[in-house]
Amino acid sequence: MKKILTILGARPQFIKAAAVSRAISKADELQETLVHTGQHFDQNMSDIFFEEMAIPKPDYNLNINSLSHGAMTGQMLKGIEKIIQEKMPDIVLVYGDTNSTIAGALAAKKLNVKVGHVEAGLRSFNNKMPEEINRILTDRISDLLFCPTDTAVKNLEKEGFVNYECKIVKNGDVMYDAALFYSELSAEKSSIISDLKLTNEKFILCTIHRQENTDDLNCLNSIVRALNRINKEIRIVFPMHPRTRKIIEKENIQLDFEPIEPVGYFDIIELLKNCSLVMTDSGGLQKEAYFFKNHCVTLREQTEWIETVECGFNIIAGSDEERIYKGYQKMLTKQSDFNVNLYGNGDASEVIVHQLIENL
Ligand code: UD1
Ligand code: UDP
Repeated sequence: MKKILTILGARPQFIKAAAVSRAISKADELQETLVHTGQHFDQNMSDIFFEEMAIPKPDYNLNINSLSHGAMTGQMLKGIEKIIQEKMPDIVLVYGDTNSTIAGALAAKKLNVKVGHVEAGLRSFNNKMPEEINRILTDRISDLLFCPTDTAVKNLEKEGFVNYECKIVKNGDVMYDAALFYSELSAEKSSIISDLKLTNEKFILCTIHRQENTDDLNCLNSIVRALNRINKEIRIVFPMHPRTRKIIEKENIQLDFEPIEPVGYFDIIELLKNCSLVMTDSGGLQKEAYFFKNHCVTLREQTEWIETVECGFNIIAGSDEERIYKGYQKMLTKQSDFNVNLYGNGDASEVIVHQLIENL
């Protein structure tokens, strides 16, 4: 029996781990222990995903959150190290690009424990993003690099990873696995469309939480001005991340419509199924827009999911009011054939499990 120690802490990691953990639980050769760092902690940012997606209750919760990058990562490193020493796993599995990701990878590697990185090889080429630093460093010390796309594999090859002692696997996107599985259940489990009186209504789904947008008041103000303008023409449904809410309230930024609280995964899927456009700075939602055949306006200057842009499903609009408005106008009426396969066949998690069995 091989022991896997999985580190998760932030909302996107719960979704990714839900898909992989289900596949792991079917493999007799593997046993998984879950460590929640506590990075996300509100009921609707954490527990709701465990409940809805039937992710096993974490074996550990470190309750580390709401700190500066260094303090958060440092405390996680210390907490995870102790658990690794206790459990002595065969591999530590980390997801994505958050502070929980780098803390898990670094703690493992310093104890000579193998690291598996799910969502390896993604790059925005913007080193000012905390996520980019987390990705680059995590990839460099990972033994098994699970890449969602050909672009991710190419990024690693360009950085010389073929010369390092690691294995690069292109397995597809585990978020696609999750979207396929849970979208079968969401209509029955979610009542958000009727609750928000959206039946037969056109609406835009919007999320904003990236540090580069929220912590730069010029950017945030400009995005909010664009949203206020667009909301006059078509309703915007805006589940607001706590980071964004805190800043909007503190800085008294005038949003002319009521945002909603962050929603669970079943609700977000139903919103994605029914909306006319997605406007977001989220990584996950850019892909989910495409999974559910929606166009996307990305409120950032770069994307790691470049295939969506190359295929014309997504447009990069940054944070400038005018560019966002033009992007919205262009993408709202655009017609596209979404029947191209960008993120695998929905078996990305099974490929990971197969590789874990083969390589541990
Ligand atoms: C983190 C990740 C980001 C990811 C995002 C997903 C890092 C560096 N960033 O950003 O890559 O896209 O998660 O959502 O790891 N907060 C709450 N309640 C919560 C969670 C957060 O109030 O449940 C507050 C925190 O107190 C803090 C702020 O939101 O003030 C930011 O939280 P933090 O975890 O530092 O970063 P995110 O913006 O969530
Ligand atoms: N999400 C959700 N409820 C919300 C907003 C987002 O369930 O209110 C889901 C959605 O599936 C998204 C995922 O959470 O892909 C991760 O979201 P987030 O934007 O927080 O993180 P990122 O993908 O940018 O790291």
